[in-house]
Amino acid sequence: MCGIVSYIGKKDPVPILLKGLRRLEYRGYDSSGIALLNEKTLHCIKRAGKVSDLESLIDDSPINGYCGIGHTRWATHGEPNDINSHPHLDHTKKIALVHNGIIENYDAIKEVLKSRGIPFTSDTDSEVLVQLISELYYNSNQKLSFEDAVRAALQEVVGAYGIVVLCEDEPGTMIAARMGSPLVLGVGEGEFLIGSDASPIVQYTRNVIYLDDNELVIINDDNYSISKIDSKNIVTKTLTRIDLTIEEIEKGEYPHFMLKEIHDQRHSISDTMRGRFNLNDGTTQLGGISDYFSNILLASRIYITACGTSWHAGLIGKHLIEEYARIPVHVEYASEFRYRNVIIDSNTILIAISQSGETADTLAAIRKAKELGAITLGICNVVGSTISRETDAGIFTHTGPEIGVASTKAFTAQLTILIMLALKLGRKKNVSKKRGKNLIRALRHIDQDVVSILKISHEVKEVAKHTYEADNFLYLGRGINFPIALEGALKLKEISYIHAEGYPAAEMKHGPIALIDKNMPVVCIAPQDESFSKILANIEEVKARKGIIITITDKINYSLKPLSDYILIIPNTHKHVFPITCSIILQMLAYELAVFRDCEIDQPRNLAKSVTVE
Ligand code: M6R
Repeated sequence: MCGIVSYIGKKDPVPILLKGLRRLEYRGYDSSGIALLNEKTLHCIKRAGKVSDLESLIDDSPINGYCGIGHTRWATHGEPNDINSHPHLDHTKKIALVHNGIIENYDAIKEVLKSRGIPFTSDTDSEVLVQLISELYYNSNQKLSFEDAVRAALQEVVGAYGIVVLCEDEPGTMIAARMGSPLVLGVGEGEFLIGSDASPIVQYTRNVIYLDDNELVIINDDNYSISKIDSKNIVTKTLTRIDLTIEEIEKGEYPHFMLKEIHDQRHSISDTMRGRFNLNDGTTQLGGISDYFSNILLASRIYITACGTSWHAGLIGKHLIEEYARIPVHVEYASEFRYRNVIIDSNTILIAISQSGETADTLAAIRKAKELGAITLGICNVVGSTISRETDAGIFTHTGPEIGVASTKAFTAQLTILIMLALKLGRKKNVSKKRGKNLIRALRHIDQDVVSILKISHEVKEVAKHTYEADNFLYLGRGINFPIALEGALKLKEISYIHAEGYPAAEMKHGPIALIDKNMPVVCIAPQDESFSKILANIEEVKARKGIIITITDKINYSLKPLSDYILIIPNTHKHVFPITCSIILQMLAYELAVFRDCEIDQPRNLAKSVTVE
């Protein structure tokens, strides 16, 4: 949520900042801006809209400097307009700040500053912080240095922040600090970058340091030092090498990141599984959790917590873990879990699932579970992310960067890990080697299955062509495929703005069936497993009410054909692998519907990729 990039070094910062902002645009795209320091003055240029709008502005009136900060915004306080865009300047126009997060006590501080005659221009909480720094720097009786003014201001604010600040009177100095919102320092040859993630940094250096909460970094010409915000004692941190490639964070020949990431699943699921099978023994190896494996086996209960798509993965995880390992699993939205009187003790395991590893609610849920004595495990995609560092142990999904706001390959990677975890636990209990081998065989075949699914994209397009004008969609699934119905509906809502609901197929007759008429497309997930006859009956119910039936199945079936208006047949696979393959065809359907509706697929309105505020 909001992207930050900053540069200090010998190169022209403008192209570095603009390219960085384009790479960060997936974190927010309401407005963007940059502030630059040259020998004498601070220049700030910002604008509502996309980074391309900012680029046109800079093309018309070029600016330069030797260091700079940039920001792309996802609005929280104050509507997305030019004035509320970042960077924010103090009233002397000598200090510039970019901020990701929320300053919760901004109102109280603003009142005090206003009573001292300080004029405010924006509606944002972020401007309060830069005005406070300015007040402490220029007007405090204690004659604070710039660094001390920043530290003092940060100790007065309550909330979450990742900030970078520049001051005209302290040329050559850049200060960044983190409390709750991620920041990464890139350490190059005679140059430093700061990003809200590594994507704007990787082109210039692979050596990074992930800042932790309550840490502040001061970059002074050729040096940097990291300390706590509230003490000047140096904190020693190790450099981490990131293995991200530029190709991974660019669209290449694809029109959208979402489509690229759907196609990536030809190999990304195998990347997730690589080196983690033990075929001879019909089990899996998950080194990241080995220290806690016996605790999981003996756990009295497991909580899975997550948000959005990752929460849907959690629902499937419950199904799998209960099926294979016979351990009770509760799945909770992190935003609910964090405020609920949950029952947790030292025999409880909490599994947090998060692509970004930065989702604020999920992180808060982990912290709560830890406090209550649970062992916490993470299933994350982003290496170095806060969740992956704060959990006791975890498993990386290794699916590569996911840039499209709608999660696709990260979801199938999460499902893959959950299958592998359930199987590993199950094999230590009563699951036979033969059963394990069968499941592994199906997983190992998945690359070919994905290729076959992608080959029917013309059929998916045809369905989209005839249904894209619908105002509502229903998605029905049973058992392990009910969460896939939820996920299919979420994908559609996010990127095409069509209202969609996922429902357990048999529940439909307890309410939603009232919605069905000749204008309602109903996506029916109908694998030919033991639930088939039941779902067939549910499809009949939709047919009787003249709904438009779009069936997803895994074998040609003669009773399904006459019932379905459209039928999409995906490869037959193991019933616990089917949710993965089925979700891919639903991703394709949502994508094609959004294309027909001419939507901004990678940057859907009101959304951001990584939700780092509550
Ligand atoms: O990074 P996380 O997995 O923690 O993100 C959780 C949700 O914000 C995310 O899955 C969101 O629902 C996606 N936009 C769905 O496509």
